[in-house]
Amino acid sequence: MIDIYDLWKAYESTQVLKGLTLNVEKGETLVILGRSGVGKSVLLKHIIGISIADKGYIEVDGVRISDLRGEKRFEITHNMGMLFQGAALFDSMNIEENTAFFLKQHGNIKSGKKYTQAEITDMVDNALEMVGLAGTQKKMPADLSGGMRKRAGLARLIVYRPEFLLYDEPTTGLDPITAMQINELIVKTQEKLQATSIVVTHDIISALYVGDRLALFKDGKIAYVDRPDAFLQIDDPIIEFLRKTISEDPRTFRRKK
Ligand SMILES: Nc1ncnc2c1ncn2[C@@H]1O[C@H](COP(=O)(O)OP(=O)(O)OP(=O)(O)O)[C@@H](O)[C@H]1O
Ligand SMILES: [Mg+2]
Repeated sequence: MIDIYDLWKAYESTQVLKGLTLNVEKGETLVILGRSGVGKSVLLKHIIGISIADKGYIEVDGVRISDLRGEKRFEITHNMGMLFQGAALFDSMNIEENTAFFLKQHGNIKSGKKYTQAEITDMVDNALEMVGLAGTQKKMPADLSGGMRKRAGLARLIVYRPEFLLYDEPTTGLDPITAMQINELIVKTQEKLQATSIVVTHDIISALYVGDRLALFKDGKIAYVDRPDAFLQIDDPIIEFLRKTISEDPRTFRRKK
């Protein structure tokens, strides 16, 4: 479970987080919607521990990670994986090396034991297979399309089986079919790893496909969070806009059961 309480963060004169409170239940996929620039990526960076809040706390499974530093913090956050906005692959490494990177660095995140080269090769092959990139091991990131790079980013994430997955705009900039493949992968990954996930997106169709609950990020806080049906009935101009988007979208979409 991720428990965020009264989180505040300012960059220079911009107050980005203004007392943000949010609970993410174990095993659920929570989607955060919100306009560009409101602070969604900032929030994810706090959860994964790259940014430090001015005030408030974040607890992961009851451990207050916002108070931890260095090794202690890493012990908790190594169980988290984040798909960065833009995939963030290492350009000088091929797909196999990119996917193996964290495995090589950290070994088994539960036992701390190093993996053998044969084990790493096996795990990398499986992860690439799972995201539909079998056979791309020797390709360089620059040789892949945007959608393939996102999937390679996802392979690098799922290969070490984190319990907490954070996705920053996983479908942005992709065509509708590739976007739907990514949505399917998010659901499949969640089922396979029994992970707790947060998905940040502007894409309401994607939100409805992957989300157990939807949240709206507005004015530095989570303004609402609810099951999809109840969320979509909330009287708010942004949600009104989402309702309109859905009713006008020609794609047929499936909701998470
Ligand atoms: N390291 C930083 N230094 C200064 N300002 C920052 C920093 N990181 C984020 N900000 C500011 O915080 C605000 C929120 O940024 P953030 O990237 O979280 O938005 P977002 O909701 O993810 O937007 P988008 O949907 O476009 O990705 C912006 O005004 C941004 O300029
Ligand atoms: Mg962002």
